[in-house]
Amino acid sequence: MKKVHIKSFGCQMNVYDGQRMADILGEQGFEETATPEGADLILLNTCHIRDRAVQKVYTELGKLRDIKNAQKAEGQDTRIVVAGCVAQAEGAEIQKRQPAVDLVVGPQAYHRLPELLEQARRARVVDTDLPIDDKFGHLPAPRPQVIRQRGISAFVTVQEGCDKFCAFCVVPYTRGAEFSRPVDQVMAEIERLAGAGVQDVTLIGQNVNAYHGEGPDGRVWGLARLMHRVADVPGINRIRYTTSHPRDMDDDLIAAHRDLAQVMPFLHLPVQAGSDRILAAMNRKHTADEYRRLIGRIREARPDIALSSDFIVGFPGESDADFEDTIRLVDEIGFASSYSFKYSSRPGTPASDFGDQVPSAVMDERLYRLQERIEHHRQAFNHAMVGRTIEILLERAGRHPGQLAGKSPYLQAVQIETQTNQIGDRVQVVIERAGSNSLFGRKADAEPAVQPSGAEASPRQGSAKEMAA
Ligand code: SAH
Ligand code: SF4
Ligand code: F3S
Repeated sequence: MKKVHIKSFGCQMNVYDGQRMADILGEQGFEETATPEGADLILLNTCHIRDRAVQKVYTELGKLRDIKNAQKAEGQDTRIVVAGCVAQAEGAEIQKRQPAVDLVVGPQAYHRLPELLEQARRARVVDTDLPIDDKFGHLPAPRPQVIRQRGISAFVTVQEGCDKFCAFCVVPYTRGAEFSRPVDQVMAEIERLAGAGVQDVTLIGQNVNAYHGEGPDGRVWGLARLMHRVADVPGINRIRYTTSHPRDMDDDLIAAHRDLAQVMPFLHLPVQAGSDRILAAMNRKHTADEYRRLIGRIREARPDIALSSDFIVGFPGESDADFEDTIRLVDEIGFASSYSFKYSSRPGTPASDFGDQVPSAVMDERLYRLQERIEHHRQAFNHAMVGRTIEILLERAGRHPGQLAGKSPYLQAVQIETQTNQIGDRVQVVIERAGSNSLFGRKADAEPAVQPSGAEASPRQGSAKEMAA
């Protein structure tokens, strides 16, 4: 059998696309291999979001060229494919910088991989068409055996592309305009996943809560309505969705957090910054107070919800006072976790032409301070779990023999000791300890290994400080 090695960078959509490319290539007789060495086809699924992500691709390509040459010397023909957002943004430029690349294929063209690979036998090929075709309508469904190998949690793209045009962001250019998959197509995919043992689905999209797919009744359905449908699928016990934009959190979606038991109490809702001046310059189209009020409404619907966000420090023109507004917002909301980045100027985006770029050293300082606050709140959120009993979905082997690892409803990694459970079980776990990256607990019916201190006194959610919004 021919072998393909696929390496995905960037966001969850790239993970999903990587799997779909594996499905297409599986039909062409390729089996996946974990290392590039020995592969007949090496596919880099790339990310263009920050400059560093792009540099990584070229470094990686240099290594792959060496592998290709070494294999050629031994008589093995190796093809290198660059897919994903760098492919879309840089196209033929990639092959100029790294001639070992045989094929460049954008995120909306990868359903044509078989014919493109055929063409690439004769000459270098670039295909970066943005949607004309419905890519999803052309993708083969994964075989049940392949779904099982991928585990009991799955991503499902329901929406792709972005029309928001935040001033710093390349995504509208690399993924194209917003597109929502029809409800029936999404449901068929989820039913197939559930039939092969998937219990936990994350609906993904660059702007997933802007979902507006065609329903079976011919009308436009929003994300909340789609989630009600997903919650009806037997076997689907956990539903999440990401990434959302604050402007698209409508009442129905907020109500779904209250009404659907399968919708997990976790929401990634990026705010990017806490200063209204910066939010306006970023073209986010909402203020910090609008975001605060939105969080208030979401917490009213689902009081124990865990929130996370993305932040950019050093957006052009960000002053010390603007940055303090971000810190204030972080301390008020008390996010359970967050990602934070130094602003990276991206070619072709409006912000790359803005004056008043912030010096790198200032960005470093701000990032350090912000991450310290984010980490403080993350630890507080995790420590507030100690003593609580929560349902854990066991997903994989743990670090040590006799341990299994799973996720809490709040997306925390949890390790438990168990001789009697298996992957896929949902177990009630008493959290005994919060480590730096995982929680540790015992099954609710098991003897405590250590006496949890002050268990009864632990509040049900967050500490008082965490909740003071
Ligand atoms: N669609 C998602 C985010 C996609 S990119 C959303 O709207 O939230 C993921 C994160 O990368 C963004 O939330 C932002 O925080 C960060 N990011 C995007 N462009 C960036 C840039 N030019 N420099 C630094 N961080 C950036
Ligand atoms: Fe980028 Fe903004 Fe679209 Fe998110 S909403 S993908 S940050 S342009
Ligand atoms: Fe990166 Fe493209 Fe995702 S730029 S973050 S891989 S949409």
